[in-house]
Amino acid sequence: MRERHGTVCGSQVTDESRILIVGLGLIGGSLAAGLKASGYAGEIVACDRDPSEIEQGIALGVIDAGGTELAPWVAESSLIVLAVPVLAMAPVMTELASMVSDQVITDVGSTKQAILQAAERAFGRLPRRFVLGHPIAGSEKSGVAASNPDLYRHHKVILTPQADTDPTALARVRALWEACGAEVLEMDVMRHDQVLARTSHLPHLLAFSLVDTLARQDERLDIFRYAAGGFRDFTRIAGSDPVMWRDIFTANRDAVLEALDDFEAGVARLRQAVANGDSDAMLGIFDRASHARHYFDTLLNKTRYQAMEQRNVRYRVSPGGQVTGTIRVPGDKSISHRSIMLGALSEGVTQVEGFLEGEDSLATLQAFREMGVVIEGPHQGRVTIHGVGMHGLKKPAGPLYVGNAGTAMRLFAGLLAGQAFDTELTGDASLTKRPMGRVADPLREMGAVIETAEGGRPPLRIKGGQQLKGITYDMPMASAQVKSCLLLAGMYAEGETRVREPAPTRDHTERMLNGFGYPVSRAGDVAWLQGGGHLTAAPIDVPSDISSATFFLVAAAITPGADLTLEHVGINPTRVGVINILKAMGADLELFDEHEVGGEPVANIRVRYAPLKGIEIPSDQVPLAIDEFPALFVAAANASGTTRLRGAEELRVKESDRLQSMADGLAILGVENTLYEDGIDIVGKGEDGPSYGGGRIDSHGDHRIAMAFTVAGLRANDHIVIDDCANVATSFPGFVDLARRVGMTLEEVSA
Ligand code: S3P
Repeated sequence: MRERHGTVCGSQVTDESRILIVGLGLIGGSLAAGLKASGYAGEIVACDRDPSEIEQGIALGVIDAGGTELAPWVAESSLIVLAVPVLAMAPVMTELASMVSDQVITDVGSTKQAILQAAERAFGRLPRRFVLGHPIAGSEKSGVAASNPDLYRHHKVILTPQADTDPTALARVRALWEACGAEVLEMDVMRHDQVLARTSHLPHLLAFSLVDTLARQDERLDIFRYAAGGFRDFTRIAGSDPVMWRDIFTANRDAVLEALDDFEAGVARLRQAVANGDSDAMLGIFDRASHARHYFDTLLNKTRYQAMEQRNVRYRVSPGGQVTGTIRVPGDKSISHRSIMLGALSEGVTQVEGFLEGEDSLATLQAFREMGVVIEGPHQGRVTIHGVGMHGLKKPAGPLYVGNAGTAMRLFAGLLAGQAFDTELTGDASLTKRPMGRVADPLREMGAVIETAEGGRPPLRIKGGQQLKGITYDMPMASAQVKSCLLLAGMYAEGETRVREPAPTRDHTERMLNGFGYPVSRAGDVAWLQGGGHLTAAPIDVPSDISSATFFLVAAAITPGADLTLEHVGINPTRVGVINILKAMGADLELFDEHEVGGEPVANIRVRYAPLKGIEIPSDQVPLAIDEFPALFVAAANASGTTRLRGAEELRVKESDRLQSMADGLAILGVENTLYEDGIDIVGKGEDGPSYGGGRIDSHGDHRIAMAFTVAGLRANDHIVIDDCANVATSFPGFVDLARRVGMTLEEVSA
């Protein structure tokens, strides 16, 4: 016997011994082709009943040698891959049983239970060096001629090892697939068959059945002549290999029938909705499906919920421009998040108007869908939430991904700590760097069980089924997210939860809870509530976000000749720091038509140009303007004299380190500044002095840095190019269009 010297090194198969592929069709052929392309130096041989497949395989350079009989090839191979159709596995294994010694064996069959049983029959027991596997890749083409070395690249391969599977055999099979570019994961046999029955076998069954049904009804096949997109998309897989699929349905009968029963029940519900003309029911089903589909794509592509095509966005801002007209900016992000959260936990149906269709708030919305809440929309800012009550959420199937949204993650931490089920919260690269200890620590004091990654960073793993207890918590920082998190957890806690804030922070949670009939009290700097209450659905009208309006307030405030009106802006007293600061700098701001919508004050704001002067920003305004500083720094860069900010260390832990990002960007434009741990001094250019230049700015993926430097372009004397602007979509979809509408000149390019 030839010496075998197989070793596995990382994901590379450095083994140079012989691999035998039994069954040289598309799957086996593509594995051989992928291995060859990866530089596998050993011999690859195949055995197939059909001599022409072997001949073709050799001619194509996919295999080195092969034949129609097993016996000549087994002894000198170190790894045997069974790539025959599922029902052919049993006879092949029986034949193999008398020939193998210590070879590693694996298979590619798409049902595992049946193959496991067949192997047990053939070998007496499943050999420890037999690793059951299944590559999730294929094509409607078949035969070695269709083999494709990239078939497995970026595809999943599921291995279903047993408790006693030999670890070196498992590593060898893993390395085999990784060499072809696949992502390998492990699952147990039963679970594999159930998952595949739903995600692969059922759709194939439906496609075969639909085409067959239509073909029988229309024997001249006339309708197929007119069948365009939908039919073609839905039935592509009905062109797959009939024998293979007969085998799969035979082998995975029980799991397929179970999936089919569920499907039939779903179709019956939809049939009834169509028959009754029940528009709400139809909309509910289509809406859930369409969003779920979209969500799968984002998970699979590891992108965010919206705007998947355009991840790498750059702004090129021309110097100068005007700021005139009347505009309305999108809905408030903080209120949008909370409207979904409280609506979902309410009894009854909550109608939301003016919902922010930005990635952050959509992530919150999608997370509740994942927990079984029916949510219609958003359609032009309108969302209908069918509340499930305080205890009606269901365990999501996987981790809840909240993208860039710090508010979502921190508020979710509180309300998920009180649920009966476990959850995991994950986010994008920026969110994964942000501190979560500020919520995890006090929640633990309440009795929550939460694991974080190192340094208190995401992901958060929250254990359900804990009885929380109310606490009195003195917040070390002025944070509305921490306060809201604890109040939400407090609804599920025994007794009273009290939160003291070192300075007033936005109070949307308290207002909305009261609006939904859940009493929250307030005295001085303490807010508190009693656990065990419930929420009753109430309509919500989300005002325009003052944080988004800020970019236009500053734009008008620094541009000679500007005259701009912003409509329906939220002017909650805990959010108006920007108005107070701009007024103190000399800006000409006028509020009119003030009124209240759904417990939140709103107004129209008119801004006209007036020269600005540098000021010392009062410390009590810092939490009230916390998200507005990037834009306010641009106002400072255009004021006469120096603007000083202190006590703003929280800016270092926002979507980027905003003190650093702004200081760097301003320096590039030629605006003098001095950075401090908790603030910055900015020396303004004033009205009379030379203005600043242009340059290339890194937004660090921070939406507000990107928008602030866009506004800076109005007074620059050269182009400003801003990198990494895709995240503007998290809070301000349509920003570029609105900026152009008022008279700024900028281009958005996909880099
Ligand atoms: C928010 C609170 C603030 C703010 C964030 C939204 C909220 O964060 O910066 O954009 O909706 O509660 P902190 O609580 O960390 O200050």
